[in-house]
Amino acid sequence: MPPEPNPEWIRSDLYHNSFLIARDDALEHARKNSDSQGLPEIAVSAAQGKLLNLNARSIGAKRILEVGTLGGYSTIWLARALPEDGELVTFELSEKHAKVAQENIDYAGLTSKVKIVLGPAAESLKKLSSEPKWDLVFIDADKPSNLTYLLEAERLVRKGGVIIVDNVVRQGRVADPDVNDDNNIIGVRKLLEHLKTDKNVDATTIATVGEKGYDGFLYAVRL
Ligand code: SAH
Ligand code: DHB
Ligand code: MG
Repeated sequence: MPPEPNPEWIRSDLYHNSFLIARDDALEHARKNSDSQGLPEIAVSAAQGKLLNLNARSIGAKRILEVGTLGGYSTIWLARALPEDGELVTFELSEKHAKVAQENIDYAGLTSKVKIVLGPAAESLKKLSSEPKWDLVFIDADKPSNLTYLLEAERLVRKGGVIIVDNVVRQGRVADPDVNDDNNIIGVRKLLEHLKTDKNVDATTIATVGEKGYDGFLYAVRL
Protein backbone atom coordinates (compact mmCIF):
# COMPACT_ATOMS: atom_id res chain seq x y z
CA MET A 1 0.00 0.00 0.00
CA PRO A 2 1.36 3.44 -0.92
CA PRO A 3 1.99 5.61 2.13
CA GLU A 4 -0.82 8.15 2.66
CA PRO A 5 0.26 11.75 2.09
CA ASN A 6 -0.83 14.39 4.59
CA PRO A 7 -2.46 17.49 2.92
CA GLU A 8 0.18 19.82 4.40
CA TRP A 9 2.97 17.71 2.90
CA ILE A 10 1.31 17.87 -0.51
CA ARG A 11 0.88 21.65 -0.19
CA SER A 12 4.54 22.02 0.76
CA ASP A 13 5.76 19.99 -2.21
CA LEU A 14 3.55 22.01 -4.56
CA TYR A 15 4.79 25.27 -3.01
CA HIS A 16 8.46 24.42 -3.51
CA ASN A 17 7.83 22.94 -6.95
CA SER A 18 6.13 26.19 -8.03
CA PHE A 19 9.52 27.94 -7.71
CA LEU A 20 11.88 25.15 -8.69
CA ILE A 21 10.23 22.84 -11.20
CA ALA A 22 8.73 24.18 -14.42
CA ARG A 23 5.54 22.64 -15.80
CA ASP A 24 6.49 20.09 -18.37
CA ASP A 25 4.33 18.70 -21.12
CA ALA A 26 6.11 15.34 -21.51
CA LEU A 27 6.13 14.59 -17.79
CA GLU A 28 2.46 15.59 -17.46
CA HIS A 29 1.65 13.42 -20.45
CA ALA A 30 3.48 10.47 -18.87
CA ARG A 31 1.43 10.78 -15.66
CA LYS A 32 -1.91 11.30 -17.44
CA ASN A 33 -1.38 8.53 -19.97
CA SER A 34 -0.28 6.14 -17.20
CA ASP A 35 -3.31 7.00 -15.03
CA SER A 36 -5.77 6.72 -17.88
CA GLN A 37 -4.42 3.29 -18.80
CA GLY A 38 -4.88 2.13 -15.20
CA LEU A 39 -1.27 1.97 -14.00
CA PRO A 40 -0.92 2.35 -10.21
CA GLU A 41 -0.09 5.89 -9.05
CA ILE A 42 3.23 4.99 -7.48
CA ALA A 43 5.76 6.85 -9.65
CA VAL A 44 8.24 9.09 -7.83
CA SER A 45 7.07 12.63 -7.09
CA ALA A 46 8.20 15.55 -9.28
CA ALA A 47 10.63 16.68 -6.57
CA GLN A 48 12.09 13.18 -6.29
CA GLY A 49 12.30 12.87 -10.07
CA LYS A 50 14.17 16.12 -10.24
CA LEU A 51 16.52 14.99 -7.47
CA LEU A 52 17.30 11.88 -9.53
CA ASN A 53 17.96 14.09 -12.54
CA LEU A 54 20.24 16.46 -10.60
CA ASN A 55 22.14 13.53 -9.12
CA ALA A 56 22.76 12.05 -12.53
CA ARG A 57 24.01 15.41 -13.80
CA SER A 58 26.24 15.92 -10.73
CA ILE A 59 28.15 12.74 -11.46
CA GLY A 60 28.18 13.29 -15.23
CA ALA A 61 26.22 10.09 -15.81
CA LYS A 62 26.36 8.70 -19.35
CA ARG A 63 25.05 5.21 -18.61
CA ILE A 64 22.09 4.70 -16.29
CA LEU A 65 20.20 1.58 -15.20
CA GLU A 66 16.71 1.60 -13.74
CA VAL A 67 14.98 -1.36 -12.09
CA GLY A 68 11.17 -0.88 -12.27
CA THR A 69 9.93 1.27 -15.18
CA LEU A 70 6.16 1.53 -14.55
CA GLY A 71 5.00 4.25 -17.00
CA GLY A 72 8.48 5.70 -17.46
CA TYR A 73 8.01 8.80 -15.30
CA SER A 74 11.28 8.43 -13.36
CA THR A 75 12.85 7.13 -16.57
CA ILE A 76 12.15 10.44 -18.31
CA TRP A 77 13.61 12.46 -15.44
CA LEU A 78 16.77 10.34 -15.48
CA ALA A 79 17.16 10.11 -19.26
CA ARG A 80 16.95 13.88 -19.55
CA ALA A 81 20.15 14.12 -17.53
CA LEU A 82 22.06 12.22 -20.22
CA PRO A 83 24.30 13.78 -22.84
CA GLU A 84 23.56 13.21 -26.54
CA ASP A 85 25.46 9.91 -26.60
CA GLY A 86 24.18 8.72 -23.21
CA GLU A 87 21.99 5.67 -22.62
CA LEU A 88 19.50 4.37 -20.09
CA VAL A 89 18.33 0.78 -19.76
CA THR A 90 15.19 0.19 -17.69
CA PHE A 91 13.83 -3.18 -16.54
CA GLU A 92 10.12 -3.96 -16.32
CA LEU A 93 8.22 -7.18 -15.65
CA SER A 94 4.79 -6.09 -16.88
CA GLU A 95 4.18 -6.03 -20.63
CA LYS A 96 1.41 -3.49 -20.12
CA HIS A 97 3.58 -1.13 -18.08
CA ALA A 98 6.37 -1.42 -20.65
CA LYS A 99 3.99 -0.57 -23.49
CA VAL A 100 2.69 2.55 -21.72
CA ALA A 101 6.25 3.54 -20.76
CA GLN A 102 7.38 3.21 -24.38
CA GLU A 103 4.57 5.56 -25.46
CA ASN A 104 5.56 8.07 -22.80
CA ILE A 105 9.27 7.88 -23.61
CA ASP A 106 8.53 8.32 -27.33
CA TYR A 107 6.31 11.33 -26.58
CA ALA A 108 9.17 12.82 -24.53
CA GLY A 109 11.53 12.48 -27.51
CA LEU A 110 13.81 10.06 -25.66
CA THR A 111 13.34 6.97 -27.85
CA SER A 112 16.97 6.82 -28.97
CA LYS A 113 18.42 7.06 -25.44
CA VAL A 114 16.15 4.64 -23.58
CA LYS A 115 15.80 0.87 -23.90
CA ILE A 116 13.10 -1.00 -21.99
CA VAL A 117 13.99 -4.62 -21.18
CA LEU A 118 10.92 -6.76 -20.52
CA GLY A 119 11.09 -9.59 -17.97
CA PRO A 120 12.13 -10.28 -14.38
CA ALA A 121 14.82 -7.72 -13.58
CA ALA A 122 17.00 -10.12 -11.58
CA GLU A 123 17.47 -12.32 -14.64
CA SER A 124 17.99 -9.41 -17.03
CA LEU A 125 20.56 -7.82 -14.71
CA LYS A 126 22.52 -11.08 -14.43
CA LYS A 127 22.89 -11.14 -18.22
CA LEU A 128 24.52 -7.69 -18.30
CA SER A 129 28.27 -7.59 -18.72
CA SER A 130 30.15 -5.81 -15.95
CA GLU A 131 32.15 -3.88 -18.58
CA PRO A 132 31.74 -1.12 -19.51
CA LYS A 133 30.55 0.02 -16.12
CA TRP A 134 27.40 2.05 -15.41
CA ASP A 135 27.28 5.40 -13.60
CA LEU A 136 23.98 5.25 -11.74
CA VAL A 137 21.40 2.61 -10.83
CA PHE A 138 17.90 3.48 -9.59
CA ILE A 139 16.24 0.54 -7.83
CA ASP A 140 12.44 0.83 -7.62
CA ALA A 141 10.74 -2.51 -8.36
CA ASP A 142 9.59 -5.44 -6.19
CA LYS A 143 10.94 -4.75 -2.71
CA PRO A 144 11.61 -8.39 -1.68
CA SER A 145 14.33 -8.44 -4.39
CA ASN A 146 16.05 -5.26 -3.15
CA LEU A 147 19.17 -7.06 -1.97
CA THR A 148 19.51 -9.03 -5.22
CA TYR A 149 19.26 -5.76 -7.15
CA LEU A 150 21.79 -4.02 -4.91
CA LEU A 151 24.34 -6.81 -5.39
CA GLU A 152 23.90 -6.68 -9.17
CA ALA A 153 24.17 -2.89 -9.07
CA GLU A 154 27.44 -3.16 -7.12
CA ARG A 155 28.80 -5.46 -9.82
CA LEU A 156 27.77 -3.07 -12.59
CA VAL A 157 28.49 0.42 -11.20
CA ARG A 158 31.86 2.16 -11.49
CA LYS A 159 33.78 3.41 -8.46
CA GLY A 160 32.23 6.74 -7.50
CA GLY A 161 28.99 5.70 -9.18
CA VAL A 162 25.69 5.93 -7.35
CA ILE A 163 22.97 3.46 -6.38
CA ILE A 164 19.63 4.87 -5.20
CA VAL A 165 16.87 2.68 -3.73
CA ASP A 166 13.29 3.98 -3.43
CA ASN A 167 10.78 3.22 -0.66
CA VAL A 168 13.13 2.31 2.16
CA VAL A 169 11.15 4.04 4.95
CA ARG A 170 7.52 3.21 4.21
CA GLN A 171 5.79 5.38 6.83
CA GLY A 172 8.36 4.24 9.35
CA ARG A 173 7.07 0.66 9.03
CA VAL A 174 10.53 -0.64 8.14
CA ALA A 175 11.61 0.30 11.68
CA ASP A 176 8.39 -0.87 13.37
CA PRO A 177 9.11 -4.07 15.35
CA ASP A 178 5.40 -4.98 15.23
CA VAL A 179 5.45 -5.31 11.41
CA ASN A 180 6.59 -8.85 10.61
CA ASP A 181 4.26 -10.10 7.89
CA ASP A 182 4.97 -7.69 5.02
CA ASN A 183 7.43 -9.03 2.47
CA ASN A 184 8.11 -5.53 1.13
CA ILE A 185 9.17 -4.36 4.57
CA ILE A 186 11.21 -7.53 5.15
CA GLY A 187 12.91 -6.91 1.78
CA VAL A 188 14.08 -3.47 2.89
CA ARG A 189 15.31 -4.81 6.25
CA LYS A 190 17.35 -7.50 4.48
CA LEU A 191 18.97 -4.78 2.40
CA LEU A 192 19.85 -2.73 5.49
CA GLU A 193 21.20 -5.75 7.37
CA HIS A 194 23.45 -6.52 4.42
CA LEU A 195 24.68 -2.92 4.14
CA LYS A 196 25.82 -2.90 7.75
CA THR A 197 28.89 -4.92 6.75
CA ASP A 198 29.06 -4.25 3.00
CA LYS A 199 32.49 -2.83 2.10
CA ASN A 200 31.59 -2.07 -1.53
CA VAL A 201 29.38 0.93 -0.85
CA ASP A 202 28.87 3.70 1.67
CA ALA A 203 25.20 4.66 2.14
CA THR A 204 22.62 6.75 3.95
CA THR A 205 18.83 6.92 4.07
CA ILE A 206 17.06 10.23 3.59
CA ALA A 207 13.46 10.07 4.78
CA THR A 208 11.05 12.47 3.12
CA VAL A 209 7.49 13.67 3.50
CA GLY A 210 5.59 15.08 0.55
CA GLU A 211 3.16 14.18 -2.20
CA LYS A 212 4.08 10.52 -1.79
CA GLY A 213 3.60 10.45 1.97
CA TYR A 214 6.34 9.50 4.44
CA ASP A 215 9.00 7.42 2.72
CA GLY A 216 12.60 7.78 1.60
CA PHE A 217 15.55 7.10 -0.70
CA LEU A 218 18.64 5.12 0.22
CA TYR A 219 21.66 6.74 -1.44
CA ALA A 220 24.84 4.70 -1.88
CA VAL A 221 28.21 5.49 -3.44
CA ARG A 222 30.27 2.66 -4.94
CA LEU A 223 33.68 2.54 -3.25
N1 SAH B 1 10.32 3.87 -11.20
C1 SAH B 1 8.91 4.12 -11.51
C2 SAH B 1 8.00 3.36 -10.58
C3 SAH B 1 8.22 1.88 -10.57
S1 SAH B 1 6.89 1.02 -9.75
C4 SAH B 1 8.66 5.62 -11.40
O1 SAH B 1 9.01 6.19 -10.36
O2 SAH B 1 8.11 6.21 -12.33
C5 SAH B 1 7.54 -0.59 -9.72
C6 SAH B 1 7.57 -1.30 -11.08
O3 SAH B 1 8.36 -2.49 -10.91
C7 SAH B 1 6.19 -1.77 -11.57
O4 SAH B 1 5.96 -1.31 -12.88
C8 SAH B 1 6.29 -3.28 -11.57
O5 SAH B 1 5.58 -3.92 -12.62
C9 SAH B 1 7.79 -3.49 -11.71
N2 SAH B 1 8.26 -4.81 -11.24
C10 SAH B 1 7.76 -5.56 -10.22
N3 SAH B 1 8.46 -6.70 -10.09
C11 SAH B 1 9.42 -6.68 -11.05
C12 SAH B 1 10.45 -7.57 -11.44
N4 SAH B 1 10.63 -8.73 -10.81
N5 SAH B 1 11.24 -7.23 -12.47
C13 SAH B 1 11.07 -6.04 -13.12
N6 SAH B 1 10.11 -5.16 -12.78
C14 SAH B 1 9.29 -5.47 -11.77
C1 DHB C 1 4.63 1.10 -4.10
C2 DHB C 1 5.76 0.93 -4.89
C3 DHB C 1 6.61 1.98 -5.11
O1 DHB C 1 7.75 1.84 -5.86
C4 DHB C 1 6.36 3.22 -4.56
O2 DHB C 1 7.24 4.21 -4.80
C5 DHB C 1 5.24 3.41 -3.78
C6 DHB C 1 4.36 2.35 -3.56
C7 DHB C 1 3.72 -0.03 -3.87
O3 DHB C 1 3.92 -1.08 -4.46
O4 DHB C 1 2.76 0.15 -3.10
MG1 MG D 1 9.00 3.53 -5.68
